[in-house]
Amino acid sequence: MTKAASALDYRELARRRLPHFLFEYIDGGSYAEVTLRRNVADLEAIALRQRVLCDVSTIDLSTSLFGEEMRLPIGLGPIGLAGMNARRGEAQAARAAAKAGIPFCLSTVSLCALDEVAKASTRPFWFQLYMIRDRGFMVDLIAQAKAAGCTALLFTVDLPLPGTRYRDMRSGLSGAPGWRGDVRRTLQALARPGWAYDVGVRGRPHQLGNLAPVLGKASGLGDYLGWLRDNFDASCTWADLDFIRKIWDGPIIIKGVLDVDDARSAVGAGADGIVVSNHGGRQLDGVLSSARALPAIADAVGDKLTVLADGGVRSGLDVVRLMALGAKGVLLGRAWVYALAASGEAGVAHVLELFEAEMKVALTLTGCTAVRDINQDMLVHD
Ligand code: GLV
Repeated sequence: MTKAASALDYRELARRRLPHFLFEYIDGGSYAEVTLRRNVADLEAIALRQRVLCDVSTIDLSTSLFGEEMRLPIGLGPIGLAGMNARRGEAQAARAAAKAGIPFCLSTVSLCALDEVAKASTRPFWFQLYMIRDRGFMVDLIAQAKAAGCTALLFTVDLPLPGTRYRDMRSGLSGAPGWRGDVRRTLQALARPGWAYDVGVRGRPHQLGNLAPVLGKASGLGDYLGWLRDNFDASCTWADLDFIRKIWDGPIIIKGVLDVDDARSAVGAGADGIVVSNHGGRQLDGVLSSARALPAIADAVGDKLTVLADGGVRSGLDVVRLMALGAKGVLLGRAWVYALAASGEAGVAHVLELFEAEMKVALTLTGCTAVRDINQDMLVHD
């Protein structure tokens, strides 16, 4: 295969190009990966309701979220270490998103720092943050996000403790600390010379851009997992959102809500939006898929804040399915990273074109002419 026709084709191309430990990190989930599989399978199982002979001569895929015009109801979700997948990867992906007229969300644990992405992108982007023990560091990061022109803050709440990912332990990403891990990863990188030269050498992937001020020279891959483990503030509660509200006056979107009671708490805490998410099946294995959790949450709070969703989305049809279940917009995760790994900015641009075309067909054949009209009547309810 030389040309990808779908996000899953990009997965295969990414598998061939990336060092083993990196592909496994992106592709894998936690424990037995039950939730990872459920995310995909539950979406796939949802039947769309075909309708014919409606006037579907024009289809409008645009929307507006948090006051921002978007050409598609899609955003590129935050992915840790995304910049390892292509040279200065986050800058490339942000450029592709801007050209496609959709938001890109930069992870705190990115290779490219906020200002590098701001320079690369012609469109304001979103920033993702965790509750970090060092509140002074959070204040600094949020100030940098403001200076970079970020328009929304995604506050990730489902990672007070990282879930165990067996694949990372087996691949050498987390299972072999110290020089042993370095040697294993280097050997895997050397087995992928295209990546090794383009990203490993020319891409300078040695520092986590936003963490460099606290970690200094040591902010490399070896510190990434340690940083995740040591720096989340697991004592954080809904009341701590006040702290963020005081230092960030733009939209706050709580990412990682899977339960109706938590969604109601997000409303109570004054959030502008939530992302119904199980972190791509990377945290608590065995929880509900996003597709199954979403309808009750959208019913309960959909009129009080903006409900987004992610998890298992591998095509434009899946975007339409999640929107029919109640999401107002959908974040892509693995789908855009596979494309970035395979072909950089051009890959991300292309996978977004594929999603757009797939969404167009899905709306056309369900007799719906605009994304704002997507609703649960477009699904077959057995
Ligand atoms: C971090 O957010 C991860 O899922 O690895």
